[in-house]
Amino acid sequence: MNASTARSPRCYAIVPAAGVGERSGAGQPKQYVTVAGQPMLAHALAALAAVPRIVQTLVVLSPADDRFEAALPGYAGWLARVGGASRAESVLGGLAELRRRGALDDDWVLVHDAARCLLQPEWVDALIDACDHDAVGGLLAQPVADTLKVGDAAGRVTATVDRRDKWVAQTPQMFRLALVERALTAMGAAATDEASAVERLGLSPRLVKASVANLKVTWPEDFALAERLLLTRG
Ligand code: CTP
Ligand code: MG
Repeated sequence: MNASTARSPRCYAIVPAAGVGERSGAGQPKQYVTVAGQPMLAHALAALAAVPRIVQTLVVLSPADDRFEAALPGYAGWLARVGGASRAESVLGGLAELRRRGALDDDWVLVHDAARCLLQPEWVDALIDACDHDAVGGLLAQPVADTLKVGDAAGRVTATVDRRDKWVAQTPQMFRLALVERALTAMGAAATDEASAVERLGLSPRLVKASVANLKVTWPEDFALAERLLLTRG
């Protein structure tokens, strides 16, 4: 038996952190904004590092990034400046880098946004527990609680959408390396998450119920909310 058939699949993580954070209004890439004493990116990496089943985490930066080493001194994990113009391209760059470092087709890859700095290791464990015997993979997601409206350009309601089968997609999202690579390559920059690309292949990712506290810092007011949640959770 050779080494590749003998070995069971490993879990890797990729953290795309090559965005500019335009909507956040921070005047700098939001992953480097300090929240509760640490750059957002450091919080996300600490949560992934606390999950023993993740063998390595790869941070994907923009080729032009000149801030990482100063912002996260002492980071000893994997790092590659292979980010692209879209999130999907940054993740694809990260997948190629994982292959260069020995990851194989059937290894699991958990993709987690640097902007979700409230991630807790137990949520990642729940995702891995739910997916590691799944044929497709899956994602953390939250059932929609609010009534959903469709709005027009003038800011008026044009319809109400049935919320009962709706979920808000979060990260991490967990798929086999070869599958997510094929899916993102086929869908390209239009894929705002891995699951949407996998769905395009006709597959149904598993929804793993998550916490509303796993919020993504997007808008200016989100930094203060994330900070309050980080400081009060103990
Ligand atoms: N990202 C990336 N490469 C890109 C765009 C985004 O690696 N070309 C990353 C971001 O750094 C972030 C994650 O993908 O960690 C989710 O994207 P988003 O929240 O949209 O962040 P930004 O693209 O930076 O923000 P904005 O869309 O407001 O500019
Ligand atoms: Mg973006």
